[in-house]
Amino acid sequence: MSTSESNRRGVGRARAGANFALVKYWGKADARLNVPAVGSISITLDRLFTETTVELVPEARSDELTLNGVRRDEDVAKISACLDLLRRKAGVDTRARVGSRNNFPTGAGLASSASGFAALVRAGEAALGLELPPRERSIVARQGSGSAARSIFGGFVEMHAGSAADGNDSFAEPLLEGADWPLEVVIAVTAKGEKEIGSRSGMTRSATSSPYYEAWVREQPPDLAAARAAIRARDFAPLAELAEHNCLKMHAAALAARPPLVYWNGATVECLHAVRRLRAGGVPVFFTIDAGPQLKAVCAPGARAAVELALRGVPGVLELLTSALGPGAELC
Ligand code: PMV
Repeated sequence: MSTSESNRRGVGRARAGANFALVKYWGKADARLNVPAVGSISITLDRLFTETTVELVPEARSDELTLNGVRRDEDVAKISACLDLLRRKAGVDTRARVGSRNNFPTGAGLASSASGFAALVRAGEAALGLELPPRERSIVARQGSGSAARSIFGGFVEMHAGSAADGNDSFAEPLLEGADWPLEVVIAVTAKGEKEIGSRSGMTRSATSSPYYEAWVREQPPDLAAARAAIRARDFAPLAELAEHNCLKMHAAALAARPPLVYWNGATVECLHAVRRLRAGGVPVFFTIDAGPQLKAVCAPGARAAVELALRGVPGVLELLTSALGPGAELC
């Protein structure tokens, strides 16, 4: 569909990059409003993205979702709830046909919900004739998926947990343009299926049964402050140490849940060691891992070839995806 079609009345089309967190979001303060228990800091990617078209269908009685060419009736309730927020703002009740496509594996811990809901909100707005201020856009996206609030923006992004009862101070905002510190990313894909335990239920299980959950939440503000300072100073070494620590702390809380949440496989762990060996040898790289078995390596420009070579050699790595930092959600 062309840009002019995207501007057609009742139709919106948008693209949003996936993002992953260097300081993680894990746990909710308010499940109904999807307010996170902790703030987070992420990077938005340019090469892994979702493209979504929202088309208003006046005669339809319910929303409809096609993801990667397949009808997903089981996911309609989630996107309807997000579209309802936009419909309310527009004073419109019309249902929509939503077509969405990821150019990377879906639901495997590669932030498809982040790019998916960010693209949905941007496209939904356009279809409904809205143009929300970015902060409001981020608040709507958050209610679809916490990490989606961050994919509204490009480069380095900080999500504020907020404390207001209505969730209106729980939004993301840009921290640093990607062009100001053009880090690169190599993702080692170690499994391709959809993950067994999604982040939503993983968070609930951690919060209700992990003895380390409270400590995780308590320790987040100093991690956010340290990461913010390192990013503003473009200081790689402290960011590397902090991001790995924060990632392992999130997984420690998840591993200690009952039943345990083990998102890693053997290759994930071997990749982790490979990245640590590289850094010990002077290569500016660090890892992070989300609620899935993929390992994400973040490196300084110029180090990417060495990182690719090392991760390609790890048994169990199925594929490497590379990316630079990208823009926020935009119409296309
Ligand atoms: O927003 P969700 O439901 O996709 O949860 C994201 C959780 C993590 O990816 C594990 C961490 C994060 O901050 O992105």
